[in-house]
Amino acid sequence: MSTMPVLPLSYKVPNDPGPREELLEGLKKIASQAFTTYSDAFTNALTPFDRELYAWVAKAHPYSPKDWYRDPHDIIVVSAMQRIVASEDLPSWLITAAILHDRGYAILASNNDQTARDYQQRDGAHWENVDTRLLHSRLSAELGREWVVKHLRGSGEKIPLCADTETFLTVIEKHDHPLIGKYEELPPMGRHHFDADSLFSISLLSFIKDWLSYCADEKKLVKARGAGICEMGEVLSPNALLQARIARYYKEDSDLPDGWNCIETPLNPRALSFTEGGRCYPPHSQTAQGLTDIFFQGISRCCALLAEEESVTEFLTKVEPMIMAQFDLLMDMQPRI
Ligand SMILES: [Fe+2]
Ligand SMILES: [Fe+2]
Repeated sequence: MSTMPVLPLSYKVPNDPGPREELLEGLKKIASQAFTTYSDAFTNALTPFDRELYAWVAKAHPYSPKDWYRDPHDIIVVSAMQRIVASEDLPSWLITAAILHDRGYAILASNNDQTARDYQQRDGAHWENVDTRLLHSRLSAELGREWVVKHLRGSGEKIPLCADTETFLTVIEKHDHPLIGKYEELPPMGRHHFDADSLFSISLLSFIKDWLSYCADEKKLVKARGAGICEMGEVLSPNALLQARIARYYKEDSDLPDGWNCIETPLNPRALSFTEGGRCYPPHSQTAQGLTDIFFQGISRCCALLAEEESVTEFLTKVEPMIMAQFDLLMDMQPRI
C-alpha cells in the first residue's frame, strides 16, 4: 500500500490555489477579529484630539473591504508610533501623522479618475505600484490639511500640531518615499514614522499576506530568482521571503536578533534586490530596533510552522494566538502566549 507524500504548507500553498485561498480567507478572518478585539483599547489609548480625528477619518473615509488589512495595519502602526514617541521622547504629532498616513487609500478606492479606477481593479501586490504609493500619501496629506483647517475653525482651540504643521504634513506626504528610492526627501522625523510603518510589513499578518500574494505572482518569482533567494523551478518559500525581509532591516550579522539561525536564514545583501527601495534601512531608535527584533523572531517561528504543518486549519489555529500576541505587545496588554 502506497502512502501519499507529506507536503508542508510552505510547498503546497505556492503550488496549489486551493490551500492558498483557504489560508487567505482564514487570515482575513483573523484580521477582522483582531480589529474587533483591539479597537476599543486602541481608541482609548489615544489623546482626545487624536480620538476625535480617528473617529472622523474612519467615518468619513472607511477603507474598502478589498483592503481588509488596512484597519489592523493602522492599529499596529499607530500603537508602534505611540511606544516609539513615549520611549524616545519625540513629538506627539507623529501619532497624529500615523493615524492619517494611509487614509488616502480609502479616498483612492472611492474616487473616479483613471488612477483610482486602476487601483479599484487591483490584484496581487498592488500596494507596490509607484503611482499608488505617491497618490495615496498625497491624498492623506490633503486630508491632514483639511483636518488642521477644520479643527482651527471648528473649535478655535490650539491644536497640538503647533510644533510644525508643515513638517507634519510633509511626513505624511513623503512617508513612502524610501520605498520608491527617494529616502533623502524624507524629513528626519519621518524616519521614525517609517520605522513604525515598517513594523507592519514584518508583522505576522502582513508577512503571511505578502507571501500569499508573492508566491502566486510569476513576476515576483523571476525577481526572487534574480535576487538569489529562489532557485530556478523552485517556489517562493516563506524562508526566502524572510531572507529578503531580514536584508532590508539588518546590515551586519552582529546586528541580527538574539539567537538568530544564520544557517537557515543567512544575511544575504543580494536579497535586497527583491525588496521595495532595494536598500537596507535599519531602525532609527532603540525602541524600534527592539520591536523589530521581536517581530522577526515571530516570522521565524511562523516560517518553521509553515515548513512542518500540512493542514491550513491546524496552521491557522496555531498562528492566530501568535498574531494576537503582537497586538498585545504593541498595546501593552498582557500577552496571550
Ligand atoms: Fe502608505
Ligand atoms: Fe502604512
